[in-house]
Amino acid sequence: MIKFKTIFAALALAGSLALSPAAMAAEEGGMEAELQDWSFAGLFGTYDTHQLQRGFQVFREVCASCHSADLLAFRNLSEEGGPSYTEGQVKALAAEYSIPDPSTDTGERPAVSADRWPSPFATEQDARDSNNGAYPPDFSVLAKARGISQKFPYWAFNYFTAYQEGGPDFIYNVLVNYAEPPHGVEVAAGQHYNAYLGHGISMPPPLTDGLVTYEDETTPQTTEQYARDVSAFMMWMADPHLASRKAMGFRVLLFLVLFAGMMYLVKRKLWADVKH
Ligand code: HEC
Repeated sequence: MIKFKTIFAALALAGSLALSPAAMAAEEGGMEAELQDWSFAGLFGTYDTHQLQRGFQVFREVCASCHSADLLAFRNLSEEGGPSYTEGQVKALAAEYSIPDPSTDTGERPAVSADRWPSPFATEQDARDSNNGAYPPDFSVLAKARGISQKFPYWAFNYFTAYQEGGPDFIYNVLVNYAEPPHGVEVAAGQHYNAYLGHGISMPPPLTDGLVTYEDETTPQTTEQYARDVSAFMMWMADPHLASRKAMGFRVLLFLVLFAGMMYLVKRKLWADVKH
């Protein structure tokens, strides 16, 4: 018994040593992320169609002039669980854009629903030339490729709460925390200080209050609201099947619980006449 305890203590110590760099990383650089209440969080979370539509509007009117979204096809915007525009709306939207096509006289043609979202720049070099040498990353899976870091006990809870909104929380915090650099901090030319990151970033602050006019006038037209909406849209773009995956996971768990109960009854029946 004593031996077992010693082994356990050694394992726990090794574990905490191995994990401590992650905990330390949280203390570097900027500020602690302010976590948002996402509709798609938790076991039963789903995307909010209206929020995705607003987020798409912010993406289209603001971010898409610099950032590409190579994996997004126009027709995705009418898929169930997403912004859920009608097929007619998507067709009309696509027709507003043109796609390079060397086989035509003009070298381009109007986009159709099956086309991918057109890039704002023809090449990466063009994108860098227009952005002080920095490359605006593609949005397709950015929300899945980013996360936040948290101080020690908090990230440990995430294993139990199934927290997986680090991407949109990161994007939101970058967007709302542009600020004057604190005293003594130098920001390189062409960079803008971001208090969340704790250093300069080559993207100028993209959002200001009132920048985008929402159709629904009850939704606040503030930087915070735009940032939340576009982050939710980017999460959908990176993980469009999140809601159906959660629903399936729940059904599987329910099945396993029922199945375990049934197996228990079967075991009772089979062993009923056996003396033990
Ligand atoms: C004027 C061009 C421009 C616009 C408009 C713009 N961005 Fe950016 N963005 C950039 C550039 C350039 C970078 C790379 C910054 C760097 O590497 O320092 C960047 C970086 C980012 C990053 C950080 C990515 C990372 O690697 O961690 C996020 C998040 C982001 N943009 C989101 C947005 C969102 C959301 C919008 C729309 C609301 C937007 N951007 C609008 C140019 C732009």
